Amino acid sequence: MGKLHQSGIIATGSYVPDKVITNQDLEKIVDTSDEWIVTRTGIRERRIAEADMATSDLATKAAQAALESSNLIAKDLDMIIVATVTPDMNFPSTACLVQRNIGAVNAAAFDLEAACSGFLYGLAVASQFIATGVYRNIMVIGAECLSRFVNWQDRNTCVLFGDGAGAVILSRVEDGYGFLSQILGADGNGASLLTLEAGGSRKPASVETIEKQMHYIHMDGSEVFKFAVRIMASMAEAAVKNAGLTEKDVDYLIPHQANIRIIEAARKRLDLPEDKVYINLDRYGNMSAASIPVALDEAVRLGRIKKNDNIVLVGFGGGLTWAACTIKWAV
Ligand code: ACO
Repeated sequence: MGKLHQSGIIATGSYVPDKVITNQDLEKIVDTSDEWIVTRTGIRERRIAEADMATSDLATKAAQAALESSNLIAKDLDMIIVATVTPDMNFPSTACLVQRNIGAVNAAAFDLEAACSGFLYGLAVASQFIATGVYRNIMVIGAECLSRFVNWQDRNTCVLFGDGAGAVILSRVEDGYGFLSQILGADGNGASLLTLEAGGSRKPASVETIEKQMHYIHMDGSEVFKFAVRIMASMAEAAVKNAGLTEKDVDYLIPHQANIRIIEAARKRLDLPEDKVYINLDRYGNMSAASIPVALDEAVRLGRIKKNDNIVLVGFGGGLTWAACTIKWAV
């Protein structure tokens, strides 16, 4: 094998549906309050896809936005990875539907599932292909339609999630730029803490699975919370150290957007001021694999991220899984 190439993000795009559900709207559906949701999570509203839209539709719009912000056309893409826990269907993959929709005729396409860590897992996979020179341009998308899998009568979960999609394009970048460190991890012993049990090979769809409401997301919120606080802070710190940097070198933190208290733990561990952390969970809730790429795209478009900045991305999710990376922004 020849020289390894440095890979980095050269373009971003995102899409969220227009329809807004506020905490006040939820007060009319379940026994909850705006005050409880805001103080426990930081979420004020979330976006919900229209009935005729599925995850591939949101992903397609994010993909088109990322292409528009690049110098590339769809035919230049060598691979499309869609990270999602809410694919349109079990198969074909959502990535194949996006590939068709945008006309990326030269791209290999597959889905990747690592729950809320999925987008960062996707970046790690894509960057290997670029490093080895096998591919030049890879699109990584995080896209979710979680509203279809939330039990709107369960206040423990329905207040937390939202729909959306974010996309990035990875290409070769100058030496010294792009990914400086990448961390992936998993602990399957925590598999039962966050589940959507029915519809797979263990519990195929049946009258019983529907009666027992097993097609909805189930979560042990307080156990996930404890894990998340610990892992977000420690992985953000490890990503910086593995990049050969110190906390002082970090210009911007883009964390997974599940709960403001979990984000605060990571921010404090890196000793960052509040204006160096991007937060959009007040507007979108937790969009699982879509949270980080949507936040990244918004931060880029707002000019919060500039060439030479050291950016830390960190997330955690069902599985259990976690992931983090440090990027020296190249464009
Ligand atoms: N409104 C009012 N009360 C509520 C609501 C609500 N929407 N939801 C739960 N409660 C109640 C519960 O019924 C419980 O009441 P009880 O004590 O009478 O039984 C109580 O509030 C729970 O309170 P706490 O334990 O203090 O709640 P906590 O501070 O843990 O916050 C939360 C709950 C927000 C879910 C938190 O645990 C959390 O954020 N966990 C992590 C969730 C997460 O990040 N998930 C990622 C999943 S993403 C993926 O991989 C798909």
